[in-house]
Amino acid sequence: MTDQGVREAADLLRRALRAVIFTGAGMSAESGVPTFRDALTGLWQQFDAQALATPQAFHDDPALVWGWYEWRRTAVARARPNAGHVAVAAIEARVPHAVVVTQNVDDLHERAGSVDPVHLHGSLFAPRCSACARPAWAADGLGEEPTDGRRVTPPSCGHCSAPIRPGVVWFGEALPEDALDTAVDAASSCDVLLTVGTSGLVYPAAEIPQVAARFGAAVIQVNPQETPLDAVTAVNLRGPATEVLPALVRAAWEADDRA
Ligand code: OAD
Repeated sequence: MTDQGVREAADLLRRALRAVIFTGAGMSAESGVPTFRDALTGLWQQFDAQALATPQAFHDDPALVWGWYEWRRTAVARARPNAGHVAVAAIEARVPHAVVVTQNVDDLHERAGSVDPVHLHGSLFAPRCSACARPAWAADGLGEEPTDGRRVTPPSCGHCSAPIRPGVVWFGEALPEDALDTAVDAASSCDVLLTVGTSGLVYPAAEIPQVAARFGAAVIQVNPQETPLDAVTAVNLRGPATEVLPALVRAAWEADDRA
């Protein structure tokens, strides 16, 4: 991240009437929530996605899948929003029309003060019936020590007795239609799209910054690594979310506050 890059990005944000803040797992990495594809620590480096994150996996071994998501849910419940989440909420509060669109299934944006973030890949805290889709109750996850690899039989639906499933999007499943529509609408009418902590490899979510660029928005990227989204990015801020985002908020609005 360079000072000039931060100033350029801050100018774009300060002038924006409409902004989309598009986030991925890197946003929550510094809260201790692992990403999917980072070398060594990424979940998909350690676990088999096909055995844990597909409808077939849940059909074949519901206790393995439910146990794995319970592990993730309890770990997230113990995590705290980081300075990057707080800065995202500050940007949202300053830009007249701002929408947070996240691929994350954690609730750290909400807990940092973001209002109604759009969850493209569902939520760890919204389990539902695997047959009738009725929402199910979710415990707060704070009762037990999180352990990976523990099999836990999923609860049964009070209405139809089918197993309750995690409220996340699995590989091979469609994204929630409302969430995708809201994200595409926001991306196609924004002045600025700020993408934070995503590898930009998973579709259709990765289309969102591309849609924004196609409709003329300036794309700002916050990520320590190169990504395929570099191709549509106007200002690239290489660095971790907890450093870059607070610096961006300071550069965009602190001068106003002092005036
Ligand atoms: P990935 O794990 O694919 O990418 C994480 C990105 O965050 C990488 O580009 C890292 O360089 C970056 N990163 C790491 N630490 C960071 C930090 N401190 N600050 C900023 N960036 C950082 O995660 P996603 O792109 O979110 O889908 O993955 C997309 C989807 O793939 C997920 O929603 C999930 C997964 O399979 C489903 O489960 C449906």
